[in-house]
Amino acid sequence: MSIDYSEKIPNNVDLASNKTLQRALEHWQPAYLDWWNEMGPDKTSTAEVYLRTAISVDPKGWAHFDHVKMPDYRWGIFLAPQETERKIHFGEHMGQNAWQEVPGEYRSTLRRIIVTQGDTEPASVEQQRHLGMTCPSLYDMRNLFQVNVEEGRHLWAMVYLLHAHFGRDGREEGEALLERRSGDADNPRILTAFNEKTPDWLSFFMFTFITDRDGKFQLAALAESGFDPLARTCKFMLTEEAHHLFVGESGISRMIQRTCEVMVQHKTDDPAKLRAMGVVDLPTLQKYLNFHYSVTSDLYGAEISSNAASFYTNGLKGRYEETKLGDDHRLDNAEYPVMEVVGDRISTRHVPALTALNERLRDDWVKDVQGGIDRWNKVPEKLGIPFRFTLPHKGFHRKIGIFGELHLSPEGRVISEAEWTHKHRDWLPTEEDRAFVQSLMGRVAEPGKFANWIAPPARGINNQPVDFEYVRFN
Ligand SMILES: [Fe+2]
Ligand SMILES: [Fe+2]
Repeated sequence: MSIDYSEKIPNNVDLASNKTLQRALEHWQPAYLDWWNEMGPDKTSTAEVYLRTAISVDPKGWAHFDHVKMPDYRWGIFLAPQETERKIHFGEHMGQNAWQEVPGEYRSTLRRIIVTQGDTEPASVEQQRHLGMTCPSLYDMRNLFQVNVEEGRHLWAMVYLLHAHFGRDGREEGEALLERRSGDADNPRILTAFNEKTPDWLSFFMFTFITDRDGKFQLAALAESGFDPLARTCKFMLTEEAHHLFVGESGISRMIQRTCEVMVQHKTDDPAKLRAMGVVDLPTLQKYLNFHYSVTSDLYGAEISSNAASFYTNGLKGRYEETKLGDDHRLDNAEYPVMEVVGDRISTRHVPALTALNERLRDDWVKDVQGGIDRWNKVPEKLGIPFRFTLPHKGFHRKIGIFGELHLSPEGRVISEAEWTHKHRDWLPTEEDRAFVQSLMGRVAEPGKFANWIAPPARGINNQPVDFEYVRFN
């Protein structure tokens, strides 16, 4: 499955054989580039960035690395190889051939699913567009831009599906995806978390660690879809997503490393002293974690959802690693535990598993986030520092679902509005915290140099040295 780069739009879907579709996408392409130039990474059009580009969708060796000016990046359409005779493997259509065309009765639902996923891709590019100006190193700047160009490609992936399978409606949705703007009062992006600001690198690392991980789980669930083109598209997107998660997890880990080194060297855990020495104290990192975790948790939607049930029953969206699960893949009689709040007491009740699929996917994500936190905690542990990062309770700082109307402490105690008002500044980043983090942000753009608040990575990208010139300025 190699990719044809001689075409105006690189692809492995034999675009040339469908002239109407090719023309429609070639028409969308300049609008996309206009969007990139307006809303993509700020003041970078001439910088040459050491980027990977997909040359094949083969699991081994699909990436080619070279210095590229970002507007010249070859965005294209890449689907994972088609499995012969793939069957739908869950829901009421289980055992039937996977759909190569959209079934009429699911047309509007599938379109909505694709648009909602697609909208997050340009949104994150918009959220991150100023970060290049304050990068802590060329290595980090390169990673940011790698994430950005691939989110741009993920938009291409979704727009391809819209154009190829949803006719005029799909083309209109493709245009609208370039018209919404993250954080815009009149024309915001669809999901709340994608309208938040990503004002500094700590937020960026938390976002890629936690919110891109939501992307991973959503894509994994859609990679199970009975609509085969969607499944294949998401499968390939997942391979790119892994690097985004790495950028976030390793970014925070390097911040923890640096802070812990300063703590050991100066024998202090006093946040004020640490801040004065230009590193982010661990309790502040914990607050950022609390914020991004809770805001992203809302993206999974309400615990009990009839929409989620019908997406599953209809074969549109599966569970995480559906094929590896050893049950009937229909969930006719299965149950799943969800939390419930009675008065100020939180307990668990069992509900039909079909209705709890949002909660199940959230739980899968929570486990994965926890894995990353455990790896972070090895850093202070190794340096003999007692501090450990913890995830707040699932109901902490939620806006959606059963906890949406309540206030919970990070430990999961239901508290009054007054107590929340009094204490939330200890749990979530305050204006002062944000201003402090912002004050550390200054551009470090000399090969091999790193900002004071972050440790260098253990190794470079694609076996290049850490002091490699990952971005060249002209
Ligand atoms: Fe993405
Ligand atoms: Fe991503």
